[in-house]
Amino acid sequence: MSNAETLAILGGEPLMTKPIQFSNEIGQEEMTAVQRVLECGELSGFVASADDLFWGGREVRALETEFKRHYDVRHALGFNSATTALHAAVAATGVGPGDEVIVAPYTMSASSTAILFTGAVPVFADIESDTFGLDPQSVLENITPYTKAIMTVNIFGHASRLTALRKIADEHGLVLIEDNAQAPDAMYQGAFAGTVGDIGIFSFNRHKVMQSGEGGVLVTNDDKFAEKAAFMRNHGEAVVGDMGVENIVNTVGLNYRMTEMEAAVALQQFKKLPRMNEARIARANRLTEALADVPGITPPKVEDDCRHVYYMYVMKYDAGITGVPRDLFAKALNAEGFFARAGYIQPTYLLPVYQHKICFGQDGFPFTANLRNENLSYEAGICPTCERLQDAEILMTMIQQPPQTLEDMELFAAACNKILSQKDVLLRHAAKLSEVA
Ligand SMILES: Cc1ncc(COP(=O)(O)O)c(C=O)c1O
Repeated sequence: MSNAETLAILGGEPLMTKPIQFSNEIGQEEMTAVQRVLECGELSGFVASADDLFWGGREVRALETEFKRHYDVRHALGFNSATTALHAAVAATGVGPGDEVIVAPYTMSASSTAILFTGAVPVFADIESDTFGLDPQSVLENITPYTKAIMTVNIFGHASRLTALRKIADEHGLVLIEDNAQAPDAMYQGAFAGTVGDIGIFSFNRHKVMQSGEGGVLVTNDDKFAEKAAFMRNHGEAVVGDMGVENIVNTVGLNYRMTEMEAAVALQQFKKLPRMNEARIARANRLTEALADVPGITPPKVEDDCRHVYYMYVMKYDAGITGVPRDLFAKALNAEGFFARAGYIQPTYLLPVYQHKICFGQDGFPFTANLRNENLSYEAGICPTCERLQDAEILMTMIQQPPQTLEDMELFAAACNKILSQKDVLLRHAAKLSEVA
C-alpha cells in the first residue's frame, strides 16, 4: 500500500494538505472603514449622560440603522458582545430573583449565564434531535408558575421551531428571546431567525458568520425592552434620574458599549453577509451530496421552508453502522488534515456552576432564591436527547467555511471513505494503543 493510501493516523500522508481556516474574510472594505474611524479620532461615541451621546457614535448608529432596515424591526442596539446583549435582553424583560427562564442546554454557556446575571435561574428544556433547537413539547413540560420567559437558541445556523415556540409563549404570557448568535440571516418559514421572538440577539465574535472580532446586536419591536436594554448597555443607574424614568426595575447597567471600530467593521461584514452565507451554503450542500454514499453519516437536516446558514456543519454519526467508535473516527479525520469533533459541547447544566449551585457569593444565590429551591434539578439525565446527541451521535466540522473550496468538501467525504475502508487496521491499531495505555 502506498503512503498516500495508508491512513494518516497510522503514518500515511493526509488527504488534506492545506491548513483549515475558520474565520471569514476581512477585506479592503473593512480596512477602509476602520481607517476612516481612526482618522476621525472618535473611537467610541458613547457617554453615560442623559442626552444624545447616550446613544453612541456615528458608526454604531449606522450599523443599527442597517439592522433595523434589513430585519424590519423598530429597534436595533449595538453591544460589545452577544453575551452582553443577551444579559441586557433578559434584564429588559424584567425578570429577577425567584423567576425562571426556560433555556436550551446545547449552546455556549453565555445563553444561560445571561439569566443567572439577572438573579433568575435557568430551567433547561430538551432539544430536538434533528435541528437541535428547543423542543416545544419539553418547553411545555417545564413551564411552572415562576416561568417568565423562554430563550431558544438557533444553533449551528438553523432556526428553532419558532412558530411553535411563539405560540407557547403567547398562550402562557411569556417573553420569547432568540439567541441568534449563530444564525444571522437564517430563515424560518418566511421570517428571519432572530425576529420571531420578542427580542433577538446576534454575535460578531471572530468565528461567527459575520465578525468584528467582538460585538453583537440586539433587535426588538418592543419600545420598553429597547429602552431598558439601552440602560443596561450604558450605566443606566447614572441616567434614569435625569431621564425621568419611573420604572427603574433592571436599569442598573454596566459598560456594554460597542466601539466605533467594531461597528464600522460589523457594518461592512453585514453588507457582505448574503454573499458569505451563500458561499458557506454552497460548500455545505456539496458536502451533503458528497456524504450521500458514506454509510453511517447523516448530513444536517434542513426543515421545509427554512434557510440553514451553516455556522457549523453538524452530522449524525452511527457507530453501529460504521463499526468505528466516534472518537476514533474524529481522530482519524483530524489526522487526514480535516477539523472534526465528536460532539459539540457538554449540556450546560453539567457545568460546575449548576452542579454545585454556587454562583454569586457563598450561599447559592440565585438558586436559593428560586421557589422550587432544592427541587430545581440540574442532574444528568434531565435532557436525554441532548445528552444522547452529545455523548454518542454528533460529529461536527467547520470546513464548510471559505477559503476551503468545493473540492475540499469532496476530499472530506473521500477521507471518511478512506477511514471506513480500512477500519480493520484502524481498530487493531486502536486496540494496541489501549493495551499499551
Ligand atoms: C449560541 C451562542 N450564544 C452566545 C454566544 C456569545 O457570543 P459572544 O462571543 O459574541 O459574546 C455565542 C458565542 O460563541 C454563541 O455561540
